[in-house]
Amino acid sequence: MSARAKKSLKGRRAVRGGLAAIVLAAGKGTRMRSSRAKVLHEILGRPLGAYPIDLARALGADPVIAVLGHQRAVVEAALADRFGADAVTVVEQAEQRGTGHAVRLAMASLKRFTGELVLVLYGDVPLLRRETLAALVGTARRYHCLAVVTATPPDPTGYGRILRDERGHVISVVEEKDASAEERAITEVNAGIYCGPVDFFREATADLSARNAQREYYLTDIIARAAEGIGVTAVEADFRDVAGVNDRQQLAEAEAVMRGRINRALMAHVTFRDPASTDVEPGVEVGVDVELGRGVALRGRTKIGHRARIGDGVILTDTEVGAGVLIRPYSVATEAVIGAGATVGPFAHLRPGTNIGPDAHIGNFVETKKTTLGRGSKANHLTYLGDTIVGEKVNIGAGTITCNYNGYEKSKTVIEDGAFIGSDSQLVAPVRVGKGAVVGAGTTVQEDVPAGALVITRGARIEKPGYAQKVAKKYAAARKTG
Ligand code: UD1
Ligand code: CA
Repeated sequence: MSARAKKSLKGRRAVRGGLAAIVLAAGKGTRMRSSRAKVLHEILGRPLGAYPIDLARALGADPVIAVLGHQRAVVEAALADRFGADAVTVVEQAEQRGTGHAVRLAMASLKRFTGELVLVLYGDVPLLRRETLAALVGTARRYHCLAVVTATPPDPTGYGRILRDERGHVISVVEEKDASAEERAITEVNAGIYCGPVDFFREATADLSARNAQREYYLTDIIARAAEGIGVTAVEADFRDVAGVNDRQQLAEAEAVMRGRINRALMAHVTFRDPASTDVEPGVEVGVDVELGRGVALRGRTKIGHRARIGDGVILTDTEVGAGVLIRPYSVATEAVIGAGATVGPFAHLRPGTNIGPDAHIGNFVETKKTTLGRGSKANHLTYLGDTIVGEKVNIGAGTITCNYNGYEKSKTVIEDGAFIGSDSQLVAPVRVGKGAVVGAGTTVQEDVPAGALVITRGARIEKPGYAQKVAKKYAAARKTG
């Protein structure tokens, strides 16, 4: 390090605490063979690129800077959508001239950063553990040094190798393409994740050159520089946790690892019939003594209350399930609320805006949308309830359909407490069935039904004795002569 650089490091004592994170995600991700940007491919419903950003935020990083290039606009929009408009600062790297170039661009947007440390992460390393990152940041903070994550994979091909001196101190990183045969034999590699003082990053990235085999600005050159100045400390990690996702096979493998981690943690209090086939996304909460069947998927912000039983193949997205609920197999719910003690399914479909009251029953082949079902009410068979408010203790017979759409607009149906809707009825909205009213089977209800009334609309019955036999005989005779 130059004398000038050393002096300025001493002179500008950084403010304690304060962490800025830089997530590198400008690369093309060619091996994904996808029209979608690599960092937007998902692992358990969350884009790859969101994992490092979540981790950085969890460690208190502010600002979080994403360096984007390939499909910048689409990725930027996805980040704004997920984290809020200003949560992530985007820096564009139009041409990918190397990791050092990417960080140098990001440093330009940290001119007014008054914090102490800079953390560098990759957008395509979703399995990195929070503990590893916390150890990395803690090391940099404690020793005011450059902390570097290293790992020892069985095959180090392609990675930068960690060079240490005879005392074991890290002295530099050499890229595969610049390495001698002897250096390539080293199995300890650079994971590409660093944390160090902001002043060091400013000066070190300003001085990088592209004099190497790939004509790129290597961020890894900052390691030799730190070794001669502020010092380097390695934080060792399991190679599987720092592996990047480069193709769809690695994407599937990373998803399986993440699924295993989440499910194993939940097994402290949740029973899984088949953990390998069960997806619990990272934002989901599951209560004590819950049972999850085979092929269950719990997505988004789903919350499952204590003692709920979720049958095979049930898919719940952004759905709240109360305590003791039973959801029978192959039911699907999205943005729904299911009250304590209710039973749902099999083969039920609860669409957005569904609110099933406590102890209510939704049976097979029942579809609901923007519908509230009061406490203890039942719709057990083959029913569609859309834009409907159902009171308490209502019985909705098999095959009941709310006709909520006239081709132009949606209208509401209200069914008050204690009403009884006979099987195969149609409720043509807007319409109201009063408290305790009875709708006879097969009725088309077009006007409001007063409380306590009975309505039936049926054609008068026609009965012709012996008619069927007469027709049968006629056809039998025709067949003989013909
Ligand atoms: C880099 C390290 C290498 C380390 C390896 C770990 C350098 C010079 N080498 O390798 O020592 O073992 O990571 O995976 O840093 N990126 C940009 N802009 C660029 C170049 C890269 O944003 O101009 C991003 C990529 O999108 C990717 C990450 O940086 O997320 C790493 O890039 P990649 O090309 O995979 O790493 P290498 O440079 O090969
Ligand atoms: Ca590269």
